[in-house]
Amino acid sequence: MSHILTIVGARPQFVKAAVVSKALSEVGIQEKIIHTGQHYDHDMSTIFWDELNIPAPQINLGVGSGNHGKQTGIMLQKLEQYILNESENPAALLVYGDTNSTLAGALVASKLHIPVIHVEAGLRSFNKMMPEEINRIMTDHVSDILFCSSELGVDQLKKENINTGVYNVGDVMYDAVLTFSEIANQKTTLENITSLDNDSFILATVHRPSNTDSDKSLSNILNAFSMVESPVFWPVHPRVRLKIEQLELPENLILSKPVSYFEMLVLLKNCQKVITDSGGLQKEAYWMKKQCITIREETEWIETLHGGWNNLAGTDTKQIIHYISSKPSEDWIPLYGNGASSKQIASIIKKNLVL
Ligand code: UD1
Repeated sequence: MSHILTIVGARPQFVKAAVVSKALSEVGIQEKIIHTGQHYDHDMSTIFWDELNIPAPQINLGVGSGNHGKQTGIMLQKLEQYILNESENPAALLVYGDTNSTLAGALVASKLHIPVIHVEAGLRSFNKMMPEEINRIMTDHVSDILFCSSELGVDQLKKENINTGVYNVGDVMYDAVLTFSEIANQKTTLENITSLDNDSFILATVHRPSNTDSDKSLSNILNAFSMVESPVFWPVHPRVRLKIEQLELPENLILSKPVSYFEMLVLLKNCQKVITDSGGLQKEAYWMKKQCITIREETEWIETLHGGWNNLAGTDTKQIIHYISSKPSEDWIPLYGNGASSKQIASIIKKNLVL
């Protein structure tokens, strides 16, 4: 019996793999996982595998950091070599999201004539300055089975002439929130993470190069933080830490090391609101019924903008502050499926592939 080869490499992919791998195994699909090594620090990688009980990878390609060409290029070489060295080709190769690891996996498989499965297909920010946008477009166009999180994704793929193998299954990150929220609350508490009280702080994450590599954007964001009445708790990506350590920081800003998934769920549950430029956190804030202020000009997760639950503030200090003092104007409605997305994915793969 053949297997599915899954490629992961960055933080959000570990979370997605945790629920999908379980669903695949429950329907008897054999899976092998490859970690590209894009994220390699303990706090960015190992902690997720341990906490979420993800099946150990066959191999860690150890690609590490680098410019996009270098990082993706090393992944291409190493992944191709791995697959060619195996005695048996996988029935399909599965990738998640929009990182360089996603693109590398999709390119290698399509050139080796291995069907590509893309989870989180059809998303577009329509901003090609984002490396992730290039990764999404390229990956979708070489994929054979495309799992979208909503009907908008399906419609977008139609516009790009991708009509077959497309399924709206909802979002696997919702499955993860539902699966792990209770466990997270049992395993850790707010006091273990910070001395801040419940409902007393804003949770922030900032890691997009467009925000952190521009002095103006970063200083606008920090200015907005300094004007917020509540403390701002910010778990910092290692790349960003180097940058902000050189700056004068607002007194109400509390920096922390990157947090684990369970810690993030606990922080989300206990915060007042979220300020972020992360894609995944916009959705997680929504599912946890917390208002989100997105420090970007656009979002791929358009549905979350419903009723002001998510707000696009860009990096304009005034806009960020304006939205911080606003409230959602409409009731919360469920978005991106019913929490059984990974089960649907597993059953569609089982029906469509000879395994
Ligand atoms: C990547 C994804 C992004 C995703 C994010 C989640 C791409 C193009 N971007 O961004 O879509 O939202 O992961 O976190 O794939 N670094 C460390 N330790 C690590 C990992 C990274 O210090 O464990 C530093 C290195 O300096 C590295 C830099 O972070 O050069 C950038 O890492 P990289 O994985 O290329 O991109 P992210 O910014 O994490």
